[in-house]
Amino acid sequence: MNDLDNFRNFILEGIPKVLPKKKDYDLKINHAPIRKDILSVDEKKLALKNALRYFSKDMHHILAPEFLEELKKYGRIYMYRFRPDYKIYSRNINDYPHKSKQAAAIQLMLTNNLDNAIAQHPHELITYGGNGSVFQNWAQYLICMQFLAQMNDEQTLVIYSGHPMGLFPSNKNAPRVVVTNGMMIPNYSKPDHWEKYNALGVTQYGQMTAGSFMYIGPQGIVHGTTITILNAARKIDPLAIDLSGKIFVTSGLGGMSGAQPKAAVISNGVCIVAELNKKATIKRHEQGWVDLIINDLDKLIDRAVKAKNEKEAISIAYNGHIVDLWERLVERNIKVDIGSDQTSLHNPWAGGYYPQGMKYEEANNLMVNNPSLFKEKVQETLRSHVNAINTMAKNGMYFFDYGNAFLLEAKRAGADILNESGNFKFQSYVQDIMGPMCFDYGFGPFRWVCSSNQKEDLKATDRIAAEVLEKLKINSPDEIKLQMNDNINWIKSADDNNLVVGSQARILYADSNGRIEIALAFNKAIANNEIKEPIILGRDHHDVSGTDSPYRETSNIYDGSQFTADMAIHNVIGDSFRGATWVSIHNGGGVGWGEVINGGFGMLIDGSKESEENIKNMLFWDVNNGIARRNWARNKEAIFAIKRAMKENEQLKVLIPNTADENLINSLDF
Ligand SMILES: NC(=O)c1ccc[n+]([C@@H]2O[C@H](COP(=O)([O-])OP(=O)(O)OC[C@H]3O[C@@H](n4cnc5c(N)ncnc54)[C@H](O)[C@@H]3O)[C@@H](O)[C@H]2O)c1
Repeated sequence: MNDLDNFRNFILEGIPKVLPKKKDYDLKINHAPIRKDILSVDEKKLALKNALRYFSKDMHHILAPEFLEELKKYGRIYMYRFRPDYKIYSRNINDYPHKSKQAAAIQLMLTNNLDNAIAQHPHELITYGGNGSVFQNWAQYLICMQFLAQMNDEQTLVIYSGHPMGLFPSNKNAPRVVVTNGMMIPNYSKPDHWEKYNALGVTQYGQMTAGSFMYIGPQGIVHGTTITILNAARKIDPLAIDLSGKIFVTSGLGGMSGAQPKAAVISNGVCIVAELNKKATIKRHEQGWVDLIINDLDKLIDRAVKAKNEKEAISIAYNGHIVDLWERLVERNIKVDIGSDQTSLHNPWAGGYYPQGMKYEEANNLMVNNPSLFKEKVQETLRSHVNAINTMAKNGMYFFDYGNAFLLEAKRAGADILNESGNFKFQSYVQDIMGPMCFDYGFGPFRWVCSSNQKEDLKATDRIAAEVLEKLKINSPDEIKLQMNDNINWIKSADDNNLVVGSQARILYADSNGRIEIALAFNKAIANNEIKEPIILGRDHHDVSGTDSPYRETSNIYDGSQFTADMAIHNVIGDSFRGATWVSIHNGGGVGWGEVINGGFGMLIDGSKESEENIKNMLFWDVNNGIARRNWARNKEAIFAIKRAMKENEQLKVLIPNTADENLINSLDF
């Protein structure tokens, strides 16, 4: 039997009938942190009984003590023994055993999420963000793959937080898979509820594209960061086309933050980034994501100023503390154009942000040995951090919060971060940039994956997408011309930027028209055999309509509805009956469990008439739902965009808000 037959047989077998050999804990792999020991003895018994449900009784006497050992050692039962021996990665769609091509596409996507080259903690089935799970354990993976291989186009697979509940009869227009992740009764959605119910094996944190099988590696974050930086440059300088001749100072060369220097250079600017962890600095330098490392602060500053004057695009890492960098810039009275921060301040007491005046290892020791002193030092540092930024801002620097809770933690630390009316002195990247400049017009992180797994297909899609956008740009209103240009530039240089890791995927910010027209052109190219196999469409949840998150995606909603989640729920329901191949809805993602509801979809297009209808119907809803809501929140860019959409599609009728006169409101006796 060849490798492919073996692979197919393994999938079709599901849970093996003969117990596989126990696996060693592989030290070469990056493993998830050990989780809290949160369960009582009775709850541990329940967790074991829950885990054993997947296995025939004759295996229980071996598996019960083994799973208890995992629970005690790691805080979770991952069922390591059942991790398959075959290599998990995205293959050609036809390699997966299947009766439904749509189900094969889903196998492709979820195996991509668990590829060792992609996933952060592959053996714990975590794709990114520390706890972004595809499944809770390996039994769920095996059963899910088996169901996907067996199912036909008249069935729907139902997945409850990683658990494949079963195949249910449906119809060919229904989604093949419906996923929910972390859906809780609202009062049970505090962080410790995740620890407890995840340890019991009944829920999981799906992040955004982890538990929805739509992660495409680091490319997504580079594009999003590029769009943010480009628009930040234009915010401070309406004549600016890009970041050319401007200095951007920030921190962090970690998972997402590491995209900043690469994005700044793509945007033709000068980027200085401080990173305390030497390993992270060297890794990003070796990858070519940061051009230089200069640890002498004065030499670094001189080099950056020279680059600014000569309009050179360059990124320079400082392997040291961000506050040391800011303070030296203040002392030398250097004009920095844009500033931000991407330390992991959403997690300040467990290594997300380090105190000043200490070596990295020293700070890590203090964090474990004297957590309260560590906390004091972090807060003292945050106060200095804000003082330096305030001085830079007085000298004309534009500073924005990068969704990492910088402003929130600075406030908690007692830093001078509030203005006279008690609001933050600075805005977040969604309030100022992504919200009004992108999401309100419908621009968001559209993406696609070539199911042939062939580079040639991806190249063909890049070319087709560029042609479509060039055509659309001719009649685009002035309000969105810049966005159109950015996305044309991005897609034209996407191949050269060499960002594919894992599946042959591409991300491209586009609005409703852009997404629909590109997808229709792909569908035609598949029908003409110009593209060899079907294409999987999708998007990040961090988008126009998919996510309700009051401090991030919907932070530029100011009518009080930012604390509701109707938009995200409507979105996923609406996608499900308009042609999505699979849909998912999650509690948690990016900003934390209980803090956000977000959803997404996947859609296989195969060149058929049905695919054409699905594209027109579902992508239109998937973007215009969010624009309609943003319009109702009185966002003027969204009012413009929804009026335009109504003109183009007579079937769309959306309420436009009337604006109350401020003087009238203020004249009343409250
Ligand atoms: N990039 C985006 O589009 C985006 C969007 C929303 C939120 N975020 C947020 O950005 C933050 C960073 O994400 P990540 O995945 O890169 O996290 P990460 O933990 O992988 O990286 C953060 C880096 O900051 C470094 N660091 C910590 N304190 C420092 C200090 N005082 N000086 C210098 N370096 C320091 C750490 O060593 C680490 O390498 C998170 O809070 C995330 O939620 C990013």
